Amino acid sequence: MIILGLNAFHGDSSACIVVDGKLTAAVEEERFRRIKHWAGFPEESIRYCLNEAGVGINEVDYIAVNRDPKANFTKKALFAFSKKPSLKLVADRLKNASRIRDIKSILCETFGIEKQRIKAEVHNVEHHIAHLASSFFVSPFKKAAAVSIDGFGDFVGAMWGMGEDNSLKVRDRIFFPHSLGLFYLAFTQYLGFLKYGDEYKVMGLAAYGEPEFIGDMKEVVKLANGHAGLNNGKLFELNLDYFIHHSEGVTMTWNDGEPKMEPVFSEKLVRLLGPDRKKGEEINEKHRNIAASLQKMYEEAFFHILNHVYKETNCPNLALSGGCAMNSLANGKIFQYTPFKEVFIQPAAGDAGGAVGAAFYIWNHVLGGPRSFVLEKPYLGPGFSDREIAEELGERGRELKAENCHIEEIDDVVELCRRTAEYIAGGRVAGWFQGRMEWGPRALGNRSIVCDPRRRDMKDILNLKIKRRESFRPFAPSIHLEAVGEYFETDYPDPFMLKVYRIKPEKREVIPAVTHVDGTGRLQTVRQEDSPLYWRLIEEFRKITGIPVLLNTSFN
Ligand SMILES: [Fe+2]
Repeated sequence: MIILGLNAFHGDSSACIVVDGKLTAAVEEERFRRIKHWAGFPEESIRYCLNEAGVGINEVDYIAVNRDPKANFTKKALFAFSKKPSLKLVADRLKNASRIRDIKSILCETFGIEKQRIKAEVHNVEHHIAHLASSFFVSPFKKAAAVSIDGFGDFVGAMWGMGEDNSLKVRDRIFFPHSLGLFYLAFTQYLGFLKYGDEYKVMGLAAYGEPEFIGDMKEVVKLANGHAGLNNGKLFELNLDYFIHHSEGVTMTWNDGEPKMEPVFSEKLVRLLGPDRKKGEEINEKHRNIAASLQKMYEEAFFHILNHVYKETNCPNLALSGGCAMNSLANGKIFQYTPFKEVFIQPAAGDAGGAVGAAFYIWNHVLGGPRSFVLEKPYLGPGFSDREIAEELGERGRELKAENCHIEEIDDVVELCRRTAEYIAGGRVAGWFQGRMEWGPRALGNRSIVCDPRRRDMKDILNLKIKRRESFRPFAPSIHLEAVGEYFETDYPDPFMLKVYRIKPEKREVIPAVTHVDGTGRLQTVRQEDSPLYWRLIEEFRKITGIPVLLNTSFN
């Protein structure tokens, strides 16, 4: 049984392939197009997934898409009727929805084959159901509460339910325009970070401020307090006076390139907090404090939802998904502020992951296939053989020579790791490229830049020479799984770098380059059986320095 999963005509366009219930390949289209968050039809990703599985498009049994334009139709229609959105916005949405409905024709055009040769049925899976499925069905849990929080998709901003064996039951939805993702987006834009997906920068900035605007934030987001219900009758709602997405619509660009979203905050927000930060304007204390207040309010709302879901389900396991599940700062506090005992978040928790969710929803829930796959390793993307790499190096021989590059083949794995570790311990920066590419936005030891976390100046060296990014953004540690409790206050695995834990005070001085200003670190735990070569590199570094930690950052 072959299922092709897609996230198409949306940010973080992606594809995956599930063969007999096993995730064989998954990749984001941005990796081929070299434009972050690339939106459009994931043609290259589909080609790669089919190749990896060794099948043609005509052999695929089901195509699963993480959008269903028919879902929540009545809600959508009533909303449109009451708001009378602009004709252009309606036309844009209809065009996007019609492309989602007509995936088969687009595939035929792409692969140059006739429609009848594609036997696969196309299944549209509601956006948030695909999110829930993307985490629960590939989690190690037999039973779990599943929660999805994002901007919005198919007219919903959050959803939760219960997963058990191969079925998923939705318990509630919070409908557009109420959304924690849009709340975070509005303030990200207000703070002058206007690119799609910039929320993580504001998260990094939050550590430098004090949440002195929390009172204002509570004006903007309302949490249901016991029996005092909210207008929408749900767990939270936005004070829509501070937003324009409900009145003027969210102006989005989802076509063959970088996705764009126009600002969603209103003039009233500017009256509340003063002028928004303009492009190029220096970041001041007020901006930092607004970022800290935003993060604090998000966390209050997040734990409010999680605690409610726990009360409803009484299940100690949590499968988390949606763009907001990339908020690693909040994720790292789940054990502290909720009764959940186990948490699973898959590496592409945002919209890219919807491709996996849609595919597994068909395999498990619709077809009743058994649970037979746990996403333990993120290495699901393209890999290259030694021969291919040698050929590439040969083709680029001249360029490499001009840069004084020296090429040497080291067959002995331990020797390779030992020499690289020595090089790193000597203060140099290494590019580490091996095996298949990571699924999800993080570099996790197969496409990573690695260096010494002990050096305080390493952050500046990296920023100056390679990354050229904002100085307030932290760098992350990769750590042997067995050493987590020695370095961090929380001893729980996080192989996908999606949780921030507090570093033990006595260790902060030991690994300053990966300790954020608030004493935290967004760690990747490395287990020998998941990533033997990367584990070995850290081991060789530990033998030299006594520290089982490396600074790990991505090539982009
Ligand atoms: Fe989403």
